[in-house]
Amino acid sequence: MQITRTLPELRAALAARPGRPAFVPTMGNLHDGHIALVRQARPLGDTLVTSIFVNRLQFLPHEDFDSYPRTWDADCARLEAAGCDIVFAPRETDLYPEPQTFKVQPDAQLADMLEGHFRPGFFTGVCTVVMKLFSAVFFASGGGTAVFGKKDYQQLMVIRHMVRQFALPVDIVAGDTARAADGLALSSRNGYLSEAERAQAVQLSQALKALAQATLAPGAAPLPDLEQQAMAQLTQQGWTPDYLTVRRRSDLQPPTPGDAAAGTLVALGAARLGGTRLIDNLEF
Ligand code: PAF
Repeated sequence: MQITRTLPELRAALAARPGRPAFVPTMGNLHDGHIALVRQARPLGDTLVTSIFVNRLQFLPHEDFDSYPRTWDADCARLEAAGCDIVFAPRETDLYPEPQTFKVQPDAQLADMLEGHFRPGFFTGVCTVVMKLFSAVFFASGGGTAVFGKKDYQQLMVIRHMVRQFALPVDIVAGDTARAADGLALSSRNGYLSEAERAQAVQLSQALKALAQATLAPGAAPLPDLEQQAMAQLTQQGWTPDYLTVRRRSDLQPPTPGDAAAGTLVALGAARLGGTRLIDNLEF
């Protein structure tokens, strides 16, 4: 497995390998969910590239950029075992040698709600770095495949939209969310939870499951009422929810009563347990 730090190093490594890359962008601190994405990507390209870069542009000033876990040696060992060919791990000055004043501004209708509402600028930061990573990884081959986890459901949709609008020659493939035995979605931020919080953390996915079931129940109450009830219950359990909501999978807009058919919806949630903000979702 080859480690590259700069854009010229990455381009040289890719130029030496014929064919199309498959790419998994990450911020490191790799867990089984990331490794599942890497294994899924392996047969989708001739060369498998994983990036490790904690992207300051997608963090708000009060968020955990500085404390975000950096686990370089363990990450490399796991990537090598999973069949990764090239790791791209730029230093900040390699990827942003000057202030990144050109940015990719995603469609407000998709990106200013849910995560974008509670983390303003988040998707601009994500799109800007992903555009830059795509241009580096797919420059030599003229295209390839990138795998993104469904755990970050809205991010996946925003990236798909960006690829479509800019006609980027990149196929976006979605990876299922990996879960712990109790149902908690795997996330690097789970590491911030205390033992007691970790035992409780599955309540977020349970709340989404209950909300999905209540939405489809015959004679269900109006969706806003069900969402309020779900938020109130999670609050009673000691959480501070940002949102628990049911949306159409196609555009993440609230479903009209006629839309509310099984197989077309997704329940999405974000909530804070102690100092840790977790997100999850459930298609139904
Ligand atoms: O999902 C992530 O880990 C990040 O948002 C990504 C896509 C690597 C961009 O920094």
